[in-house]
Amino acid sequence: MGAVRGALFVLAAAALLPGCDDDLLPSINLERMIDQSKDKSYGDEPYFRDGRAMRTPPRDSVPMTRADTQPGIAVGEAAGAYLTRSPFPITRGVLNVGRDRFQTYCAACHGISGNGESIVAANMTLRKPPSLVDARVQGFPDGRIYQVIVLGYGLMRPYTEDITTPEERWATVAYLRALQLSQGVGVPLASLPPEARRRAEQELP
Ligand code: HEC
Repeated sequence: MGAVRGALFVLAAAALLPGCDDDLLPSINLERMIDQSKDKSYGDEPYFRDGRAMRTPPRDSVPMTRADTQPGIAVGEAAGAYLTRSPFPITRGVLNVGRDRFQTYCAACHGISGNGESIVAANMTLRKPPSLVDARVQGFPDGRIYQVIVLGYGLMRPYTEDITTPEERWATVAYLRALQLSQGVGVPLASLPPEARRRAEQELP
């Protein structure tokens, strides 16, 4: 009974809609955020006594993302050299965080398995997002990959606003390393922990 009434309602609702398909979507002004009045960098703002739109941060405030104890952690580089390895221990939990961030923020361009195959890459006419699992990127020290996330690289913008803490960025690098191991040189059986080694020997051809 409920289903019949539901179907009748849909029919009635459909009858009220205009005939042409193009009219089904209400026209939305997508420019309205661009057009609306707002303060811009270095602009005037009479509301404030000094007449400037840009405000001075309160004393002693620091950027949320600053890791000021060790520069290597913040930018991936210390004393002129890239960190060869992540400064944080790598656990299953860290890899899970890294996988989440990678799949959310990197995979759209570099591919879900990091091999550079994505719809974005296929449609890019300029320099394409490269494979991140080939020998070239495998050869990068961890800090070099980390720094691409923080500073961007060429056509690629930084992802600090999306992956906001150093821990999450290093986790993303760690996950990328796992992707490389899964597709590139592989892992020597002898280097696996006993439990994983036993499983690998059983399951791999
Ligand atoms: C919008 C697309 C896009 C997204 C999203 C993206 N990248 Fe990139 N990435 C690029 C492009 C394009 C290049 C090549 C830039 C160039 O050569 O100018 C690149 C290059 C790189 C490089 C190679 C730098 C080198 O030295 O050759 C690394 C490493 C990298 N990206 C990592 C990442 C990571 C990690 C993420 C996620 C946090 C990410 N990218 C997200 C488009 C993207």
